[in-house]
Amino acid sequence: MANPFEKINQEQTPAMDDLSVLSSSYVPENFPHREQQIDSMVKSLSSIMRHGRASNLLLYGKSGTGKTSISRYVTQLLQEAGKGSIKVVYINCQITDSTYSILVYLVNSLSERDEERIPPMGWTLDRVYSELITRIGQMKKYIVVVLDEIDKLIEKNGGDSLYVILKASDDGKEANLSIIGITNYTSFADNLDARVRSRLNQESIIFQPYNATQLRDILKDRMGGIVSHTVVEDSALNLCAAIGAREHGDARKAIDLLRISMEIAIREGKSRVGEAEVYKARDKFETDVIKESIMALPLHSKIILLSVVLSQKFANRPAYTGEVYENYKRICEEISVQNLGFRRISEILSDLDDIGLIVSVTKSMGRGGRTRFIRVPDHIDSIEQHILEDEQLSTFKGVKLTKQEKLSGLEDESHQDIDDIFNSQRSD
Ligand SMILES: Nc1ncnc2c1ncn2[C@@H]1O[C@H](COP(=O)(O)OP(=O)(O)O)[C@@H](O)[C@H]1O
Ligand SMILES: [Mg+2]
Repeated sequence: MANPFEKINQEQTPAMDDLSVLSSSYVPENFPHREQQIDSMVKSLSSIMRHGRASNLLLYGKSGTGKTSISRYVTQLLQEAGKGSIKVVYINCQITDSTYSILVYLVNSLSERDEERIPPMGWTLDRVYSELITRIGQMKKYIVVVLDEIDKLIEKNGGDSLYVILKASDDGKEANLSIIGITNYTSFADNLDARVRSRLNQESIIFQPYNATQLRDILKDRMGGIVSHTVVEDSALNLCAAIGAREHGDARKAIDLLRISMEIAIREGKSRVGEAEVYKARDKFETDVIKESIMALPLHSKIILLSVVLSQKFANRPAYTGEVYENYKRICEEISVQNLGFRRISEILSDLDDIGLIVSVTKSMGRGGRTRFIRVPDHIDSIEQHILEDEQLSTFKGVKLTKQEKLSGLEDESHQDIDDIFNSQRSD
Protein backbone atom coordinates (compact mmCIF):
# COMPACT_ATOMS: atom_id res chain seq x y z
CA MET A 1 0.00 0.00 0.00
CA ALA A 2 1.03 3.60 -0.35
CA ASN A 3 2.81 4.75 2.77
CA PRO A 4 0.08 6.54 4.77
CA PHE A 5 2.70 8.56 6.65
CA GLU A 6 3.98 10.11 3.47
CA LYS A 7 0.67 11.80 3.10
CA ILE A 8 1.23 13.56 6.42
CA ASN A 9 4.69 14.54 5.23
CA GLN A 10 3.25 16.15 2.14
CA GLU A 11 0.43 17.80 4.02
CA GLN A 12 2.34 19.22 6.93
CA THR A 13 6.03 19.46 6.34
CA PRO A 14 6.08 22.41 3.97
CA ALA A 15 4.16 24.68 6.32
CA MET A 16 6.00 23.43 9.42
CA ASP A 17 9.43 23.78 7.81
CA ASP A 18 8.77 27.29 6.75
CA LEU A 19 8.36 28.36 10.34
CA SER A 20 12.10 28.00 10.86
CA VAL A 21 12.50 31.69 10.04
CA LEU A 22 10.61 32.29 13.26
CA SER A 23 12.90 30.05 15.30
CA SER A 24 15.22 31.59 17.87
CA SER A 25 18.40 30.43 16.14
CA TYR A 26 17.52 32.09 12.83
CA VAL A 27 19.44 35.32 12.25
CA PRO A 28 17.45 37.57 9.90
CA GLU A 29 19.06 39.96 7.46
CA ASN A 30 16.75 42.81 8.29
CA PHE A 31 16.32 44.46 11.65
CA PRO A 32 13.57 47.07 11.50
CA HIS A 33 13.93 49.82 14.13
CA ARG A 34 17.53 48.97 14.85
CA GLU A 35 19.10 50.99 12.02
CA GLN A 36 20.65 53.40 14.50
CA GLN A 37 22.25 50.71 16.65
CA ILE A 38 23.57 48.85 13.62
CA ASP A 39 24.94 52.08 12.26
CA SER A 40 26.76 52.88 15.50
CA MET A 41 28.26 49.39 15.64
CA VAL A 42 29.38 49.59 12.04
CA LYS A 43 30.95 53.02 12.58
CA SER A 44 32.81 51.89 15.62
CA LEU A 45 34.04 48.62 14.10
CA SER A 46 34.97 50.20 10.74
CA SER A 47 37.97 51.75 12.42
CA ILE A 48 39.50 48.26 12.52
CA MET A 49 39.67 48.35 8.74
CA ARG A 50 40.74 51.98 8.62
CA HIS A 51 43.12 52.28 11.55
CA GLY A 52 43.70 48.71 12.61
CA ARG A 53 42.06 49.23 15.97
CA ALA A 54 38.59 49.66 17.46
CA SER A 55 37.25 50.77 20.83
CA ASN A 56 35.73 48.25 23.14
CA LEU A 57 31.96 48.36 22.94
CA LEU A 58 29.26 47.69 25.46
CA LEU A 59 25.72 46.87 24.32
CA TYR A 60 22.93 47.32 26.83
CA GLY A 61 19.27 46.44 26.68
CA LYS A 62 16.57 44.21 28.13
CA SER A 63 16.21 40.66 26.86
CA GLY A 64 14.66 40.27 23.42
CA THR A 65 15.80 43.67 22.16
CA GLY A 66 18.02 42.21 19.45
CA LYS A 67 21.49 42.48 21.06
CA THR A 68 22.68 38.95 20.37
CA SER A 69 21.35 38.56 16.86
CA ILE A 70 22.45 42.01 15.76
CA SER A 71 25.97 41.44 17.13
CA ARG A 72 26.16 38.16 15.30
CA TYR A 73 24.90 39.78 12.12
CA VAL A 74 27.21 42.81 12.22
CA THR A 75 30.33 40.88 13.22
CA GLN A 76 29.63 38.36 10.48
CA LEU A 77 29.55 41.18 7.92
CA LEU A 78 32.75 42.58 9.40
CA GLN A 79 34.50 39.24 9.16
CA GLU A 80 33.43 38.88 5.53
CA ALA A 81 34.57 42.40 4.65
CA GLY A 82 37.91 41.79 6.39
CA LYS A 83 38.72 39.05 3.86
CA GLY A 84 40.65 36.91 6.28
CA SER A 85 42.21 39.74 8.27
CA ILE A 86 39.59 39.75 11.02
CA LYS A 87 38.61 36.93 13.34
CA VAL A 88 35.44 37.09 15.43
CA VAL A 89 35.07 34.89 18.51
CA TYR A 90 31.65 34.72 20.10
CA ILE A 91 31.44 33.58 23.72
CA ASN A 92 28.30 33.18 25.79
CA CYS A 93 29.42 33.81 29.37
CA GLN A 94 26.43 32.04 30.80
CA ILE A 95 27.78 28.82 29.29
CA THR A 96 31.52 29.48 29.27
CA ASP A 97 31.49 30.99 32.70
CA SER A 98 34.98 31.19 34.22
CA THR A 99 38.06 33.24 33.39
CA TYR A 100 39.93 30.01 32.82
CA SER A 101 37.41 28.46 30.46
CA ILE A 102 37.14 31.70 28.48
CA LEU A 103 40.90 31.91 28.02
CA VAL A 104 41.04 28.25 26.94
CA TYR A 105 38.13 28.84 24.56
CA LEU A 106 39.95 31.85 23.08
CA VAL A 107 43.20 29.95 22.62
CA ASN A 108 41.35 27.12 20.89
CA SER A 109 39.38 29.47 18.68
CA LEU A 110 42.68 30.92 17.52
CA SER A 111 44.09 27.47 16.75
CA GLU A 112 44.27 26.80 13.07
CA ARG A 113 44.99 23.10 13.45
CA ASP A 114 43.49 20.48 15.76
CA GLU A 115 46.85 19.56 17.28
CA GLU A 116 47.28 23.13 18.50
CA ARG A 117 44.25 22.86 20.73
CA ILE A 118 44.89 22.87 24.45
CA PRO A 119 43.09 20.68 27.02
CA PRO A 120 39.99 22.09 28.76
CA MET A 121 41.71 21.75 32.15
CA GLY A 122 45.01 20.94 33.79
CA TRP A 123 47.07 23.94 32.74
CA THR A 124 47.70 26.81 35.15
CA LEU A 125 45.90 30.05 34.41
CA ASP A 126 49.26 31.77 33.77
CA ARG A 127 50.22 29.19 31.22
CA VAL A 128 46.92 29.48 29.36
CA TYR A 129 47.26 33.26 29.44
CA SER A 130 50.76 33.34 27.99
CA GLU A 131 49.70 30.80 25.37
CA LEU A 132 46.90 33.17 24.43
CA ILE A 133 49.30 36.09 24.07
CA THR A 134 51.55 33.96 21.85
CA ARG A 135 48.62 32.92 19.69
CA ILE A 136 47.39 36.48 19.37
CA GLY A 137 50.88 37.41 18.18
CA GLN A 138 51.00 34.57 15.66
CA MET A 139 47.52 35.14 14.33
CA LYS A 140 48.27 38.32 12.42
CA LYS A 141 44.58 38.98 12.42
CA TYR A 142 42.51 41.49 14.28
CA ILE A 143 40.45 39.69 16.89
CA VAL A 144 36.99 40.76 18.00
CA VAL A 145 35.75 38.93 21.08
CA VAL A 146 32.02 39.10 21.72
CA LEU A 147 31.26 38.43 25.39
CA ASP A 148 27.52 37.88 25.53
CA GLU A 149 25.78 37.94 28.95
CA ILE A 150 28.99 39.46 30.29
CA ASP A 151 27.31 40.25 33.63
CA LYS A 152 27.20 36.50 34.35
CA LEU A 153 30.98 36.41 34.12
CA ILE A 154 31.31 39.18 36.71
CA GLU A 155 28.62 37.69 38.91
CA LYS A 156 30.47 34.39 39.11
CA ASN A 157 34.10 35.49 38.99
CA GLY A 158 34.22 39.16 39.99
CA GLY A 159 35.62 42.07 38.00
CA ASP A 160 39.16 40.68 37.85
CA SER A 161 38.10 38.08 35.31
CA LEU A 162 37.32 40.85 32.89
CA TYR A 163 40.55 42.62 33.72
CA VAL A 164 42.55 39.59 32.64
CA ILE A 165 40.77 39.47 29.30
CA LEU A 166 41.07 43.21 28.76
CA LYS A 167 44.77 42.99 29.55
CA ALA A 168 45.20 40.47 26.75
CA SER A 169 44.26 43.19 24.31
CA ASP A 170 47.31 45.20 25.45
CA ASP A 171 49.80 42.39 25.84
CA GLY A 172 49.34 41.01 22.35
CA LYS A 173 52.27 42.30 20.29
CA GLU A 174 51.29 42.44 16.65
CA ALA A 175 47.66 41.67 16.24
CA ASN A 176 45.07 43.54 18.17
CA LEU A 177 42.01 42.57 20.05
CA SER A 178 38.87 44.37 21.06
CA ILE A 179 35.83 43.37 23.01
CA ILE A 180 32.11 43.71 22.50
CA GLY A 181 30.36 43.15 25.82
CA ILE A 182 26.61 42.47 25.90
CA THR A 183 24.40 42.75 28.95
CA ASN A 184 20.76 42.98 30.00
CA TYR A 185 21.57 45.17 32.98
CA THR A 186 21.90 48.89 32.48
CA SER A 187 23.57 49.33 35.83
CA PHE A 188 26.04 46.57 35.08
CA ALA A 189 29.06 48.82 34.65
CA ASP A 190 28.35 50.68 37.91
CA ASN A 191 29.50 47.68 39.89
CA LEU A 192 32.79 47.39 38.10
CA ASP A 193 36.13 48.56 39.32
CA ALA A 194 36.88 51.97 37.74
CA ARG A 195 39.90 50.71 35.78
CA VAL A 196 37.90 47.86 34.26
CA ARG A 197 34.87 50.04 33.60
CA SER A 198 36.71 52.70 31.67
CA ARG A 199 38.50 50.11 29.57
CA LEU A 200 35.43 48.13 28.71
CA ASN A 201 32.96 50.92 28.31
CA GLN A 202 34.79 53.03 25.76
CA GLU A 203 31.61 53.24 23.73
CA SER A 204 28.15 52.06 24.61
CA ILE A 205 25.04 51.44 22.57
CA ILE A 206 21.60 51.19 24.08
CA PHE A 207 18.95 48.83 22.73
CA GLN A 208 15.65 50.32 23.86
CA PRO A 209 12.62 48.10 24.38
CA TYR A 210 10.37 47.90 21.34
CA ASN A 211 6.87 49.32 21.46
CA ALA A 212 3.86 47.49 20.00
CA THR A 213 4.01 49.28 16.64
CA GLN A 214 7.69 48.45 16.22
CA LEU A 215 7.07 44.83 17.17
CA ARG A 216 4.32 44.64 14.58
CA ASP A 217 6.75 45.82 11.91
CA ILE A 218 9.30 43.25 13.07
CA LEU A 219 6.74 40.45 12.96
CA LYS A 220 5.58 41.49 9.49
CA ASP A 221 9.16 41.54 8.29
CA ARG A 222 9.93 38.12 9.73
CA MET A 223 6.68 36.75 8.24
CA GLY A 224 7.86 37.95 4.85
CA GLY A 225 10.24 35.00 4.73
CA ILE A 226 7.49 32.45 5.19
CA VAL A 227 5.75 30.76 2.33
CA SER A 228 2.83 29.47 4.27
CA HIS A 229 -0.66 28.29 3.68
CA THR A 230 -1.70 29.61 7.03
CA VAL A 231 -3.10 33.11 6.99
CA VAL A 232 -2.28 35.21 10.02
CA GLU A 233 -5.03 37.70 10.70
CA ASP A 234 -3.96 41.26 11.44
CA SER A 235 -5.65 41.15 14.81
CA ALA A 236 -3.57 38.09 15.75
CA LEU A 237 -0.34 39.76 14.68
CA ASN A 238 -1.26 42.87 16.64
CA LEU A 239 -2.01 40.81 19.71
CA CYS A 240 1.41 39.10 19.56
CA ALA A 241 3.01 42.54 19.26
CA ALA A 242 0.96 43.95 22.13
CA ILE A 243 1.85 41.08 24.45
CA GLY A 244 5.54 41.38 23.52
CA ALA A 245 5.42 45.12 24.20
CA ARG A 246 3.86 44.60 27.61
CA GLU A 247 6.63 42.12 28.34
CA HIS A 248 9.34 44.84 28.43
CA GLY A 249 9.31 45.27 24.63
CA ASP A 250 10.54 41.77 23.96
CA ALA A 251 10.81 40.71 20.29
CA ARG A 252 11.65 37.15 21.29
CA LYS A 253 8.36 36.81 23.10
CA ALA A 254 6.37 38.30 20.21
CA ILE A 255 8.06 36.06 17.63
CA ASP A 256 7.73 32.93 19.79
CA LEU A 257 4.04 33.65 20.30
CA LEU A 258 3.49 34.03 16.59
CA ARG A 259 5.33 30.79 15.85
CA ILE A 260 3.47 28.82 18.51
CA SER A 261 0.12 30.26 17.33
CA MET A 262 0.87 29.12 13.80
CA GLU A 263 1.91 25.68 15.01
CA ILE A 264 -1.32 25.39 16.96
CA ALA A 265 -3.39 26.38 13.91
CA ILE A 266 -1.53 23.91 11.69
CA ARG A 267 -1.92 21.11 14.21
CA GLU A 268 -5.62 21.81 14.53
CA GLY A 269 -5.99 21.81 10.75
CA LYS A 270 -6.96 25.48 10.60
CA SER A 271 -5.93 27.69 7.72
CA ARG A 272 -6.15 30.93 9.70
CA VAL A 273 -4.45 32.19 12.83
CA GLY A 274 -6.75 34.42 14.85
CA GLU A 275 -6.65 35.89 18.34
CA ALA A 276 -7.90 32.62 19.82
CA GLU A 277 -4.75 30.81 18.67
CA VAL A 278 -2.56 33.56 20.12
CA TYR A 279 -4.28 33.25 23.51
CA LYS A 280 -3.79 29.49 23.37
CA ALA A 281 -0.15 30.02 22.48
CA ARG A 282 0.30 32.39 25.39
CA ASP A 283 -1.17 29.85 27.79
CA LYS A 284 1.05 27.13 26.42
CA PHE A 285 4.05 29.40 26.67
CA GLU A 286 3.33 30.34 30.27
CA THR A 287 2.69 26.80 31.38
CA ASP A 288 5.89 25.62 29.66
CA VAL A 289 7.88 28.24 31.53
CA ILE A 290 6.17 27.28 34.78
CA LYS A 291 6.86 23.62 34.18
CA GLU A 292 10.53 24.25 33.55
CA SER A 293 10.97 26.40 36.61
CA ILE A 294 9.21 23.85 38.83
CA MET A 295 11.26 20.98 37.48
CA ALA A 296 14.42 22.88 38.35
CA LEU A 297 13.42 23.35 42.02
CA PRO A 298 15.07 21.41 44.85
CA LEU A 299 12.83 19.00 46.77
CA HIS A 300 12.05 21.23 49.75
CA SER A 301 11.14 24.17 47.53
CA LYS A 302 8.70 21.89 45.75
CA ILE A 303 7.20 20.73 49.03
CA ILE A 304 6.84 24.30 50.27
CA LEU A 305 5.22 25.33 47.01
CA LEU A 306 2.92 22.34 47.26
CA SER A 307 2.01 23.45 50.75
CA VAL A 308 1.14 26.94 49.46
CA VAL A 309 -1.00 25.41 46.71
CA LEU A 310 -2.85 23.07 49.04
CA SER A 311 -3.28 25.63 51.83
CA GLN A 312 -4.66 28.18 49.37
CA LYS A 313 -7.05 25.71 47.79
CA PHE A 314 -8.20 24.41 51.15
CA ALA A 315 -8.84 27.84 52.65
CA ASN A 316 -10.05 29.32 49.38
CA ARG A 317 -7.99 32.50 49.97
CA PRO A 318 -4.29 33.42 50.12
CA ALA A 319 -2.51 31.35 52.77
CA TYR A 320 -0.93 32.62 56.00
CA THR A 321 2.72 31.80 56.55
CA GLY A 322 1.71 29.79 59.63
CA GLU A 323 -0.55 27.56 57.56
CA VAL A 324 2.09 27.07 54.90
CA TYR A 325 4.62 26.09 57.55
CA GLU A 326 2.24 23.72 59.33
CA ASN A 327 1.06 22.02 56.14
CA TYR A 328 4.63 21.78 54.86
CA LYS A 329 5.58 19.82 57.99
CA ARG A 330 2.65 17.50 57.50
CA ILE A 331 3.60 16.82 53.88
CA CYS A 332 7.21 16.10 54.93
CA GLU A 333 5.95 13.68 57.52
CA GLU A 334 3.71 11.97 55.01
CA ILE A 335 6.55 11.31 52.58
CA SER A 336 9.10 10.61 55.35
CA VAL A 337 11.38 13.56 54.74
CA GLN A 338 13.04 15.57 57.51
CA ASN A 339 11.51 19.08 57.49
CA LEU A 340 13.52 22.31 57.43
CA GLY A 341 13.35 25.05 60.04
CA PHE A 342 11.20 28.17 59.90
CA ARG A 343 14.04 30.49 58.87
CA ARG A 344 15.04 28.34 55.90
CA ILE A 345 11.41 28.08 54.85
CA SER A 346 11.10 31.87 54.86
CA GLU A 347 14.16 32.10 52.61
CA ILE A 348 12.73 29.54 50.22
CA LEU A 349 9.43 31.44 50.12
CA SER A 350 11.34 34.58 49.14
CA ASP A 351 13.11 32.64 46.38
CA LEU A 352 9.79 31.35 45.07
CA ASP A 353 8.54 34.92 45.11
CA ASP A 354 11.57 36.04 43.07
CA ILE A 355 10.94 33.37 40.45
CA GLY A 356 7.32 34.54 40.29
CA LEU A 357 5.72 31.25 41.25
CA ILE A 358 4.13 32.82 44.32
CA VAL A 359 3.25 36.34 45.33
CA SER A 360 3.44 37.39 48.94
CA VAL A 361 2.24 40.47 50.72
CA THR A 362 3.04 41.47 54.28
CA LYS A 363 0.34 43.33 56.15
CA SER A 364 0.79 45.12 59.46
CA MET A 365 -1.83 44.01 61.90
CA GLY A 366 -3.07 45.90 64.92
CA ARG A 367 -0.82 45.89 67.97
CA GLY A 368 2.42 45.82 66.00
CA GLY A 369 2.04 42.35 64.49
CA ARG A 370 2.79 41.61 60.87
CA THR A 371 1.46 38.78 58.80
CA ARG A 372 2.57 37.49 55.47
CA PHE A 373 -0.06 36.29 53.00
CA ILE A 374 1.04 34.02 50.22
CA ARG A 375 -0.68 33.16 47.03
CA VAL A 376 -0.05 31.27 43.80
CA PRO A 377 -1.25 33.84 41.27
CA ASP A 378 -1.98 31.65 38.24
CA HIS A 379 -2.20 28.12 36.91
CA ILE A 380 -2.56 26.62 40.36
CA ASP A 381 -3.73 23.20 39.11
CA SER A 382 -0.94 22.70 36.64
CA ILE A 383 1.58 23.83 39.25
CA GLU A 384 0.27 21.17 41.62
CA GLN A 385 0.42 18.60 38.88
CA HIS A 386 4.03 19.43 37.93
CA ILE A 387 5.18 19.26 41.55
CA LEU A 388 3.59 15.85 41.97
CA GLU A 389 5.45 14.59 38.91
CA ASP A 390 8.60 14.51 41.07
CA GLU A 391 9.45 10.90 41.89
CA GLN A 392 10.26 11.77 45.49
CA LEU A 393 6.69 12.93 45.88
CA SER A 394 5.19 9.91 44.18
CA THR A 395 4.22 8.38 47.51
CA PHE A 396 2.28 11.49 48.48
CA LYS A 397 -1.36 10.61 48.88
CA GLY A 398 -2.64 13.80 50.51
CA VAL A 399 -2.70 15.00 54.11
CA LYS A 400 -5.16 16.39 56.58
CA LEU A 401 -4.66 20.13 56.14
CA THR A 402 -4.88 22.84 58.70
CA LYS A 403 -6.45 26.25 58.28
CA GLN A 404 -6.36 29.21 60.63
CA GLU A 405 -9.83 30.59 61.05
CA LYS A 406 -8.99 33.84 62.73
CA LEU A 407 -5.94 35.92 63.23
CA SER A 408 -5.72 38.53 65.96
CA GLY A 409 -6.11 41.99 64.49
CA LEU A 410 -7.91 40.59 61.51
CA GLU A 411 -11.05 39.34 63.20
CA ASP A 412 -13.27 41.89 61.59
CA GLU A 413 -12.02 41.36 58.07
CA SER A 414 -13.60 38.80 55.83
CA HIS A 415 -11.62 36.69 53.40
CA GLN A 416 -12.73 38.87 50.57
CA ASP A 417 -10.96 41.71 52.34
CA ILE A 418 -7.74 39.73 52.41
CA ASP A 419 -7.98 39.32 48.67
CA ASP A 420 -8.52 43.06 48.33
CA ILE A 421 -5.47 43.91 50.44
CA PHE A 422 -3.57 41.58 48.21
CA ASN A 423 -4.73 43.09 44.99
CA SER A 424 -4.21 46.67 46.08
CA GLN A 425 -0.70 46.01 47.37
CA ARG A 426 0.27 43.93 44.40
CA SER A 427 -0.49 46.60 41.89
CA ASP A 428 1.83 49.07 43.65
N1 LIG B 1 14.62 44.46 14.92
C1 LIG B 1 14.43 43.14 14.79
N2 LIG B 1 14.03 42.61 13.62
C2 LIG B 1 13.83 41.29 13.47
N3 LIG B 1 14.02 40.40 14.45
C3 LIG B 1 14.43 40.86 15.65
C4 LIG B 1 14.67 42.24 15.88
N4 LIG B 1 15.06 42.41 17.16
C5 LIG B 1 15.07 41.19 17.71
N5 LIG B 1 14.71 40.24 16.82
C6 LIG B 1 14.58 38.82 17.05
O1 LIG B 1 14.10 38.63 18.38
C7 LIG B 1 14.72 37.51 19.00
C8 LIG B 1 15.44 37.95 20.24
O2 LIG B 1 16.55 38.77 19.89
P1 LIG B 1 17.98 38.63 20.58
O3 LIG B 1 18.98 39.21 19.68
O4 LIG B 1 18.21 37.22 21.02
O5 LIG B 1 17.75 39.56 21.85
P2 LIG B 1 18.68 39.83 23.11
O6 LIG B 1 20.03 39.24 22.84
O7 LIG B 1 18.68 41.31 23.25
O8 LIG B 1 17.98 39.14 24.25
C9 LIG B 1 15.63 36.92 17.96
O9 LIG B 1 14.95 35.88 17.30
C10 LIG B 1 15.90 38.08 17.02
O10 LIG B 1 16.22 37.62 15.73
MG1 LIG C 1 21.00 37.77 24.01
